[in-house]
Amino acid sequence: MSFWPNSEHWSVKIPLHTDHYRMSALDRDGVVDLSPMPIDVPVEEWERLDYMDWKSGGDTNFAPLASADGELDCRGFWDKGKTDKDALWTSNAEIAPTLRSYVDGVGANFGRVRVIKLEPQDRETAIRSLHRDDNNRFNPEGEGWVVRTWVELTDCPDSYMLLMDNDADGLPDPSTERRVSLQKGARFIVDTQRLWHVVVHSGDVPRYALITSFESSPHLAEWVESERAVSSG
Ligand SMILES: [Fe+2]
Repeated sequence: MSFWPNSEHWSVKIPLHTDHYRMSALDRDGVVDLSPMPIDVPVEEWERLDYMDWKSGGDTNFAPLASADGELDCRGFWDKGKTDKDALWTSNAEIAPTLRSYVDGVGANFGRVRVIKLEPQDRETAIRSLHRDDNNRFNPEGEGWVVRTWVELTDCPDSYMLLMDNDADGLPDPSTERRVSLQKGARFIVDTQRLWHVVVHSGDVPRYALITSFESSPHLAEWVESERAVSSG
């Protein structure tokens, strides 16, 4: 029997319904495809970073570009009593000025900004890491719901982020599965506290992507509209 999360999974305890400000664009699916990355990112900006050994969602390493206190630290902001926003740039940001200015250019309050390096994993292996994120711990109700955005740095068109919404018991509902293809430059925004997620990564080289936590706000909602992928209809 393959692994499948049950009611004991830690993700089930993470709140789904709160009084935070949310963006209507994410109401229906919890994910919005954005247009391809408009900026060319030099390879050195992800290959020369300082990566930490930090396992999340598979065999991963993470390079923090912005963290709770500006240190090269992958731990949750809550370990420092902080919500995942109001982050400070780390020494890695000096190595990745294009990525830094891209995030700054969004003009929204950001939390952790990291480049993920993910080793290949097949679907069965990936499912073991299917989870929801605890993005809003310590986030006062009434403030903006923290969501995450991705920019794919490497070209992995046969790999995908697997997303599933919740069933009535708060477990992943296979009938809601969506797959976001991870070709170079792919961008998307996901309510990762709501959707179960993990990446299925085929091939034999690592996949790299920029992941940024943003606080939902009317401004970020405008940004999402302006960057939204043109629907093929
Ligand atoms: Fe996650």
